[in-house]
Amino acid sequence: MIDLSTNYMGLSLKNPLVVASCCLTGTLDGVRQCAEAGAGAVVLRSLFEEQIKGEISSLSLHAEEYSGYGEAFQYLQSYGTAFGPSQYLKLVREAKKAVTIPIIASLNCVSADSWAGYAHQLQEAGADAIELNISILPTDSSPPCDHIVADYLGILREVKHQANIPVALKIGPYFTSFAHVAKRLTSNQAEAPAYSVGWMGKDRQPGKVIHRGADALVLFNRFYRFDIDIDKQQLTHGSPYSSPHDMADTLRWISLLYGTVNCDFGATTGIHDSAGVIKALLAGASVTQLCSTLYLHGLGQLGVIEKELRQWMENNGYRSLAGFRGQLSRHTSHTPKDYERLQYMKMFIERDGQSADLRSE
Ligand SMILES: Cc1cc2nc3c(=O)[nH]c(=O)nc-3n(C[C@H](O)[C@H](O)[C@H](O)COP(=O)(O)O)c2cc1C
Repeated sequence: MIDLSTNYMGLSLKNPLVVASCCLTGTLDGVRQCAEAGAGAVVLRSLFEEQIKGEISSLSLHAEEYSGYGEAFQYLQSYGTAFGPSQYLKLVREAKKAVTIPIIASLNCVSADSWAGYAHQLQEAGADAIELNISILPTDSSPPCDHIVADYLGILREVKHQANIPVALKIGPYFTSFAHVAKRLTSNQAEAPAYSVGWMGKDRQPGKVIHRGADALVLFNRFYRFDIDIDKQQLTHGSPYSSPHDMADTLRWISLLYGTVNCDFGATTGIHDSAGVIKALLAGASVTQLCSTLYLHGLGQLGVIEKELRQWMENNGYRSLAGFRGQLSRHTSHTPKDYERLQYMKMFIERDGQSADLRSE
């Protein structure tokens, strides 16, 4: 018997195929369909910090914050009304009743503020865990790198302060010295939160020991991509969907960090098929998150991937994921140099040789 079960931040999943946060998991029907199609867990569509702030103190009071961003403000206002924080809590409650797989709520944010108390409400609504998507794209040249990392730490610490359920941190790849940053984000050092809003302070449980760093890193966020239309000479939307080539950074960093930082890994971006899932597991992921492939091929893709994963494990003599998870991480490798610059030089020297052969033919 092949056992596909996996442990992710203390949650038990029947398999490592998680439907990533997206519109497919934004309704109760969507969650049900994902569960019926065989998902191991779902991450609900994100609730944005701006929506929560809007509900806390009526978004219109903060209109001045958005001056110059009229379109963004109007969008958030209409989106917030159609799908605001109360509806989100209702979705969490109903999803928990409707399916047996873990429900991971998703918060999308760029700052630590009063909204963080909302993490506690998600916990009360029954969320098994929170995925915190911090989407700071540092386009401004003034803040030094360390201030940006401090912002991430501030948000994380505040959310962990408010909720006692596991928190996964979904982040992008744009950091200086990512290995160092990953260590800080997952460290259990008892630092006081950088921000203390205390909104839900009365409900905290003193004495309860919690891991203060991220319980998992979800690598990597796929930021909005634009393209350039050379005929019209203007910006256009890039594809909302990834391709399997987009998985390179995810594979690189999970395989480099596995076994060296104190957390689980969720792999996201570019995982389209069973080969992508197997690669992520070999690198060290506990779960793989799927999105584009489900939009492109339908939820039936979950069953296809699961079947092929079982087949691959059978062919290779593995009975459980533990038999091969992280086997191709640098930490486990007997040849850690394979992960480094030397390979880059070798590849070009070999290519150079092949080009020379071609020229002499
Ligand atoms: C239509 C769509 C909606 C998405 N909505 C969210 C969201 O609400 N929150 C979030 O963290 N990521 C969101 N994402 C990003 C996905 O969760 C995922 O990280 C990204 O698509 C990369 O994975 P993939 O290569 O499997 O598509 C969305 C992606 C798509 C295509």
